[in-house]
Amino acid sequence: MTPLTSFLLILLKVCSFYWMVVAMPTSCKLQGHLVESVHHRLQDLGGDFPLHCFPYNVNMSFPDSAFPAPKANHHQCRRALWVVYKSLQQVQLMMEDKTPVGEGGVPWNKRKLDVFQNLQHQLLEQGSCLDSEDLGVLSSYFSNVTAVVKQQESASCGWMALKRDLDKVLVSALQKHHACFTWRDAH
Ligand SMILES: *[C@@H]1O[C@H](CO)[C@@H](O)[C@H](O)[C@H]1NC(C)=O
Ligand SMILES: *[C@@H]1O[C@H](CO)[C@@H](O)[C@H](O)[C@H]1NC(C)=O
Repeated sequence: MTPLTSFLLILLKVCSFYWMVVAMPTSCKLQGHLVESVHHRLQDLGGDFPLHCFPYNVNMSFPDSAFPAPKANHHQCRRALWVVYKSLQQVQLMMEDKTPVGEGGVPWNKRKLDVFQNLQHQLLEQGSCLDSEDLGVLSSYFSNVTAVVKQQESASCGWMALKRDLDKVLVSALQKHHACFTWRDAH
């Protein structure tokens, strides 16, 4: 190995270490304006949770305790962002598996769904360092909703619950953990 090669190798190691230590944590962010946009696009997808779906609520109660108390320190911010990330990710997985349907099994508007999914995809890329294999406190909720969505007679209720609960997650995060997101202009 020539001295130049070994020098370059050392430089490379130092740089990649620097990247791991310094650059990784800063990439663990979600842009607030993207979260706001995905929330608006989600609202575009359909109306309110239908009355006749109420009985299914016993099996689909989103664990509000998943969010930390609204006093942002670094650790709690990561937790709040994780809830947003993981919820968007689970919804994405469910949408890849089955087409969301409304009343009478009619699929949701394709064009609006595309716009929503595009933003969802961007956020999932941005927050990929928040990922963890374990669904933890969210696992019972998502496995129950998946079960409701898989039954033909309850599918639309499952999707509407998912929409309602994701809406709630995004609103709570934006309101109670506003400072945890990255905002383009300081205010
Ligand atoms: C809730 O889940 C239980 C167990 O999976 C099931 O037996 C029950 O029928 C479900 N209730 C509703 C309203 O879907
Ligand atoms: C999931 O369904 C079970 C069985 O019906 C129920 O006991 C549990 O509370 C449900 N979990 C959630 C988060 O709704």
